[in-house]
Amino acid sequence: MAKSILIYENGDADKMQIHDVEVGEPGPGQVRIKQTAIGLNFIDVYTRGGLYPTPLPNAVGREAAGVITAVGKRVRGFKKGDRVAYCGVLGAYCEERVMGIEQLVPIPKGVSDEQAAAIMLKGMTVEYLIDQCAKPWLKKGDIILFHAAAGGVGLLFGQWAQARGYKVIGTTSSPEKAALAKKNGYKWVIDYTKENIVERVKEITKGKGVPVVFDGVGKDTWMASLDSLQPRGLMASFGNASGPVEPVAIGILNTKGSLFLTRPSLGGYAATRKDLEASAKSLFGMVKSGKVKVAIDQKYPLAEAAQAHRDLESRKTTGQTILVP
Ligand SMILES: NC(=O)c1ccc[n+]([C@@H]2O[C@H](COP(=O)([O-])OP(=O)(O)OC[C@H]3O[C@@H](n4cnc5c(N)ncnc54)[C@H](OP(=O)(O)O)[C@@H]3O)[C@@H](O)[C@H]2O)c1
Repeated sequence: MAKSILIYENGDADKMQIHDVEVGEPGPGQVRIKQTAIGLNFIDVYTRGGLYPTPLPNAVGREAAGVITAVGKRVRGFKKGDRVAYCGVLGAYCEERVMGIEQLVPIPKGVSDEQAAAIMLKGMTVEYLIDQCAKPWLKKGDIILFHAAAGGVGLLFGQWAQARGYKVIGTTSSPEKAALAKKNGYKWVIDYTKENIVERVKEITKGKGVPVVFDGVGKDTWMASLDSLQPRGLMASFGNASGPVEPVAIGILNTKGSLFLTRPSLGGYAATRKDLEASAKSLFGMVKSGKVKVAIDQKYPLAEAAQAHRDLESRKTTGQTILVP
């Protein structure tokens, strides 16, 4: 038996309850993993609450690291004792699990379990956003805009973008978060609870606007993001921390300057095993080279997952957060 956080109906953080579950033996193509660290992501809040519908009761958590403790038949490339990490497989809030190897990657030397669990999902998101999705819009020295700069994706994004030669404007909600963002690659930080985003962006870019906005905040920043763009700029709307963007009449992309709009997801960019491996390799390479540093700002025991969700939703966390089984 192992502890697992399950939810039997969507709702607030209290719907997450810890249970003892039978783990069992791995079948063909599967391994059993004893988890050492679990990543907390804002998407866990969406699946818990029902914004992103998922099957119950294994509906929360999709990222973790651990050690393989048993291997089923027809498994190639992984053996007992290997340190591994994954993202994109629901039901990650548990001590131990049996799962297929499709989403598993080995954790390289020089990267800790805690770091791997914290950054697989967020770091591969940063990889595809900067190096794939927005790449055709960007050249070295460009000024770009990223919302929620002191968050989990945000701190990785600032460092990665800086390493690629872009200058980043970040937005945050407090002076403490602004200071943290500045230590993680952001050249300018706007307090979007007090300052006007569009005016500040225009001031920094000398009236030009930015070629790309990366917007994981959603509803509250949608219009300011469009108004911060240069003509023919790209709006990469990749999340909904403040709530989903309302339905849009596409004519707005014309009137705001022949803009491009994308609503990308990691699932779409790491859709094949080849893409997943390439993205993970790039991410771990950035960490091992020291270009992207990974600090764990919050750790909660697995049993306190509900508190971790409350803190994430009320903007109390910064950077990376893990649950410890
Ligand atoms: N599409 C994809 O492939 C993909 C993959 C990973 C993550 N994401 C998205 O990326 C975003 C960041 O994810 P994360 O896990 O790293 O979370 P996070 O940034 O650590 O936390 C969310 C942050 O959003 C900001 N925020 C603004 N308005 C908010 C509100 N009304 N309620 C709560 N927070 C608010 C807060 O920062 P301030 O206090 O500074 O405002 C908060 O800290 C999320 O939208 C997530 O869904 C998308």
